[in-house]
Amino acid sequence: MAHLNVALIGYAFMGRAHSNAYRQVGRFFSPRHQPRMKVLCGRTPQGVKAAADQLGWEETATDWREVVNRKDIDIIDISTPGDSHAEIAIAAAKAGKVVFCEKPLANTVKDAERMLAAVKKAGVIHMICHNYRRVPAVMLAKQLIDEGKLGRLYHYRGVYLQDWVADPSVPLYWRLRKEAAGSGALGDIASHSLDLGRYLVGEITEVTGALETFVKERPLPDNPRKKGKVTVDDASASVVRFANGALGTIEASRFATGRKNYNRFEINGSKGSIVFNFERMNELEVFLTGDDRRVHGFHNVMVTDGGAHPYFSHWWPEGHLIGYEHTFIHTVYDLLEAIADDKVPTPNFEDGVKNQKVLAAMEKAAQTKRWIKV
Ligand SMILES: NC(=O)c1ccc[n+]([C@@H]2O[C@H](COP(=O)([O-])OP(=O)(O)OC[C@H]3O[C@@H](n4cnc5c(N)ncnc54)[C@H](O)[C@@H]3O)[C@@H](O)[C@H]2O)c1
Repeated sequence: MAHLNVALIGYAFMGRAHSNAYRQVGRFFSPRHQPRMKVLCGRTPQGVKAAADQLGWEETATDWREVVNRKDIDIIDISTPGDSHAEIAIAAAKAGKVVFCEKPLANTVKDAERMLAAVKKAGVIHMICHNYRRVPAVMLAKQLIDEGKLGRLYHYRGVYLQDWVADPSVPLYWRLRKEAAGSGALGDIASHSLDLGRYLVGEITEVTGALETFVKERPLPDNPRKKGKVTVDDASASVVRFANGALGTIEASRFATGRKNYNRFEINGSKGSIVFNFERMNELEVFLTGDDRRVHGFHNVMVTDGGAHPYFSHWWPEGHLIGYEHTFIHTVYDLLEAIADDKVPTPNFEDGVKNQKVLAAMEKAAQTKRWIKV
């Protein structure tokens, strides 16, 4: 079996999730190419060495430029903050590598478009990590919609709520600075909700809405006695129109006290509705108008049946649940299979650019208090 050598840039939150996916994918799935965890790249030699030992990488590096130009590397995995995605992805594409990049694709539409142009010009395979598409319950939702089980779609109601910055003493991390993160709750988590909206309902054509920053200054991470300005939104609320006529709302907040990773959507159609909540990710609530009237109501479907539900035949018997990390294993599996087929998987940099355009329109709508065409 062919091996593909992977280089991962960034080893913190997403770096750990992706490392786990490369390590586990071949143990549960049978991809035609096995990933080999060749090089882990970070910024400091000590930090990257300790991470490589724990996560299981063969070698370490501190200069991503050197890594992307190594002849023995097949896949460049970008798990760094948004301000470095474009530079790394474009260099990786020029070097002929498969490029797997975290979301949002970039911090601006312009950079996202440059990245797409680079992968197209180089003819390399590319993918963006919107891992929530690979939750079995979300894929079941997609199947039901595509089969017409929900009829004409009227509503998409996406909310993505967290509360980790609600405490004003949380320092001014990179995620709270525009130059590093591009935007706040918008790019960080509304990006997932809008990607799910595009995946399940269709293209978004027009948006309006508001952004808010509740805590305007925060302690500096390396000098807590000093404060710096928060330059991104803490929360976003948008109304969106879809090309197929559906009306949607997409709300994201990092100030929803009590909510941890409440990535929820509800879709209502002429023949039924579905509800998904990531905090109960093995379940999908389904209502179908055609059901026996005596038992009309939402049914809670446990999406863990290997004979009926995506990916589950590779995991456990029914009712034996999977979790967050499995979404990355599924994503990496599909990337490896796409490489074996020499096909660009979805979601890819085209989706990344489309998502970035919706994010930019949401930002512009908030600034101008108007409807903005995407
Ligand atoms: N798919 C998801 O659900 C999901 C969840 C969280 C974050 N993300 C995305 O993943 C990306 C990383 O976020 P995170 O939460 O892992 O951040 P993080 O702060 O936990 O980790 C960032 C890593 O990048 C490294 N890094 C930064 N600049 C670098 C450089 N120039 N060279 C090498 N390494 C560098 C840091 O040392 C660190 O290891 C972001 O784009 C974020 O939006 C996606």
